[in-house]
Formats: sequence, C-alpha cells, structure tokens
Amino acid sequence: MQKASVGAGGAGSWSGAVVDPHNARMNNENPSSIPPVLTIDGPSGSGKGTVSRMVAQRLGWHYLDSGAMYRAVGVAAGWANLDLADPAALVRCTFDTQIGFVEDTPELRVLVNGVDATDELRLETTGALASAIAAIPEVRAALKERQRAFRELPGLVADGRDMGTVIFPDASYKVFLTASAEERAQRRHKQLKDKGVSVNFDDLLREIMARDARDAQRTVAPLKPADDAVLIDTTGIGIDDVVARVMDLLPVPAA
Ligand code: DC
Repeated sequence: MQKASVGAGGAGSWSGAVVDPHNARMNNENPSSIPPVLTIDGPSGSGKGTVSRMVAQRLGWHYLDSGAMYRAVGVAAGWANLDLADPAALVRCTFDTQIGFVEDTPELRVLVNGVDATDELRLETTGALASAIAAIPEVRAALKERQRAFRELPGLVADGRDMGTVIFPDASYKVFLTASAEERAQRRHKQLKDKGVSVNFDDLLREIMARDARDAQRTVAPLKPADDAVLIDTTGIGIDDVVARVMDLLPVPAA
C-alpha cells in the first residue's frame, strides 16, 4: 500500500500519492462486492420481526432473525437440562448448537440441531431465557461471526438489539423501532389470543418491561439505537405504514 508522507514544509506540502488508509482498505475489499445491510433494532414487540421480513421480501434480500439464534441456544440448553447459573456450560452449548433457518415458508421456521423448534422458540418463556443467556459476553461473542456470515449479496436485513451498534456498525441503513410498552404488550396479547393461547395482559406487560430492562441494562451490547439510526415510533401506526417508512430510507431500485 502506498503511504502518504508530509514534506518538511508541513501542511500543504504533501509529497507522493495521498492514500486514505480507510479508503484503501475499502478499495482492496472491492466495495461493489460488499453486500449492503439494513439493520432493524428495537425492543420486543416493536414489530421489527414482521417489518424486517416484509422489507427483506420486497427487496429480495436475505433476512437474519438474530433473536432466534439466542432463543435457539435457550431451547438447546433446556433440552440438555443445563444449569442457567453455569455460564461455561451455556457458552459450550452456544458453540455446539446447530441453528438452521427455513426461509421459503410463510413463517420463518427454525431448526435447532436439525429439529423444527419454531413453536417452542416463540414461547414467552423462551424469550425470557434468551434474554438471560444473551447477557453472557462469551455467548454473544460465539454468535457474532455466525451472524455476520448472513451478509451476502444482494443484501441483508438484520433484526435484533445490537445489529446496528455491534454486529454491522458499517451498515448503510439503520433503523430503530420503538413503541410504548402497553402497545407492545397489546400486540403480543392479540397474537397469542389469535393462536388460541390465553395469557394475562398484566403479566405480559410486566414480562415485556422486565425484558426491556434486562436487554437495555446489560453491560455488553445493550439494547440502544446506533448514533446513526433512524428512530421510528410505531405506537398507533400499522405495519404497512412502518414498512413504507423503512422502504423510503432505501434507494429506489433501478427500473
Ligand atoms: O428479538 P427476540 O425477542 O426474538 O430476542 C429474544 C432475546 O434475545 C432478547 O430479549 C434479547 C436477545 N437478543 C439479543 O440480546 N441480541 C440480539 N441481537 C437479538 C436478541
């Protein structure tokens, strides 16, 4: 790589080719082959899963549900009867757990060690378990490269808590979705009711608030918007409008 050197005259007397090391790195990596990423972070129930999948479908991009990876580790840990107070065992479990996604179904199906665990993954108890496991730094580190491997052409929509801050800090497009805790609990309550599952609304609200607090207060990769993320408050806004707002942030595809 060429180096810039400053002549004796100081500022204004550069000699030789001036190379910005950052640009040089980008050039060596051939930027046109680096798949673009849209990150969509936010708390549980903010609608990010549904919005991310719809946007990914419209763009024809890949989709990463990073929360499902933490949930999958939680499910595998449960199957193996692991002690949640034993972080070393949970880290080993993270490395050992195979996580597969079946994308060409109406609902994203998730395979844990080859077994379709989608329904178990979606349980509130699994969400709480995932949130607890996700606070262990080595678990997060173990999943980092597996998440980054989803970055493939033509592009990736990545949904989670730290997609824009830690996993894809160089993403071209970053969104942070929020909604009031009450509205998020209402949405989840309706979803569960539609599935025939009856849960107490106040319990659900309490659980959502506890999970927000745990995800936002942990020391590693806490739930927070990236400095360059666009914040969208989805309280009182339908999914189609949220999708339209996100699509507005992206360049219009060439006709
Ligand atoms: O998005 P979700 O509800 O499926 O995520 C379940 C839990 O996993 C969430 O409460 C915190 C954790 N998680 C995380 O720490 N980082 C992510 N990128 C995604 C999820």
